[in-house]
Amino acid sequence: MHFIKLNNLLVIALVSTSLLSSYAYPGFNFDWGGRNHGSRGGISYGLSPQFYQFSCPQANDIVMSVLEKAMAKNMRIAASLLRLHFHDCFVQGCDASILLDDSPAIVSEKNSGPNKNSIRGFEVIDEIKAKLEEACPQTVSCADILALAARGSTILSGGPNWELPLGRRDSRTASLIGSNNNIPPPNATIQNLITFFKRQGLDEVDLVALSGAHTIGVARCATFKQRLYNQNGKNEADVSIERTFYFGLKTMCPRSGGDNNISPLDFGSPRMFDNTYFKFILQGRGLLNSDQVLLSGGVIKTQELVKKYAQDEAFFFQQFAMSMIKLGNLRPITGFNGQVRKNCRRVN
Ligand code: HEM
Repeated sequence: MHFIKLNNLLVIALVSTSLLSSYAYPGFNFDWGGRNHGSRGGISYGLSPQFYQFSCPQANDIVMSVLEKAMAKNMRIAASLLRLHFHDCFVQGCDASILLDDSPAIVSEKNSGPNKNSIRGFEVIDEIKAKLEEACPQTVSCADILALAARGSTILSGGPNWELPLGRRDSRTASLIGSNNNIPPPNATIQNLITFFKRQGLDEVDLVALSGAHTIGVARCATFKQRLYNQNGKNEADVSIERTFYFGLKTMCPRSGGDNNISPLDFGSPRMFDNTYFKFILQGRGLLNSDQVLLSGGVIKTQELVKKYAQDEAFFFQQFAMSMIKLGNLRPITGFNGQVRKNCRRVN
């Protein structure tokens, strides 16, 4: 049984996950029913935290050591890896489809609107995979590497830890259309955001907590320019942006050009996983439209959650951990239609 710092609810959920799935037989996955058995109310019956206990006990240590080295060179990689897991899970489930390169049989998700010139971190995943192939050949899936890297990145940035269900298998397909259609855009309204998350089985609590990932990392000018110059089609700025912040953003993001200039998503502490992202939203300093509408979009539930997370960092951490488990449990492949890729960029 596993005791962790989170609340009772999560401890119960994790224990029952273990008992109901492959707890007694780590490293084996008996859920051969294929897809869509993944997530029921945050509990995944096909996955187990002990999955690699015997087959690759050092898996997490290998992931963490590669991450530490990569972050020592450039802290931003933590943010990029956290985002990579999100963009994987929202497109045909957490199956590492995002890692596949173009090939005669594959149209890569890397060229979708949300990913092109934006998503990064692939080389670090390659390095982790190469080390894992040396230590435990064809054992740890690329989809699990993405989930482990997302958790490790959160921890090494100062955020919460959680017990991570494992045992995902890798897809043989990618979906460019899915990537274009399922990942929410930065100019989304609050209703859009809620709809995109609902489609994945995630609720408003997950939406606000997971948006808290924007406590680390950066965004390109192109993703928030509309707010500065033409929010409503009348060449006017978004009135919800705080004035000083607005003028600062305009110097970083001029009306024409500069689309690839970058700004931190959380100006207070861009490298630290904390709750300042929510404090900034309360001050009208959310960077993306999708950040600010959590407060200003007119939905009481998300508004209240932003306030709560801004007040209580421990509460945010706890909810973030639970929502990350739900995110990671989205439609994992646990059956014969998946595989453990040798190279994350191509199917075996
Ligand atoms: C709620 C809807 C969301 C929208 C509309 C959104 C949109 C964006 C955009 C536009 C960027 C900047 C991309 C660029 O400049 O090229 C970004 C960055 C980022 N997003 Fe999100 N995001 C959302 C939710 C999430 C979630 C759920 C996570 C993770 C759990 C996440 C993690 C990140 C991170 C860490 C970065 C910084 C990446 C880096 O610096 O490389 N986002 N997001």
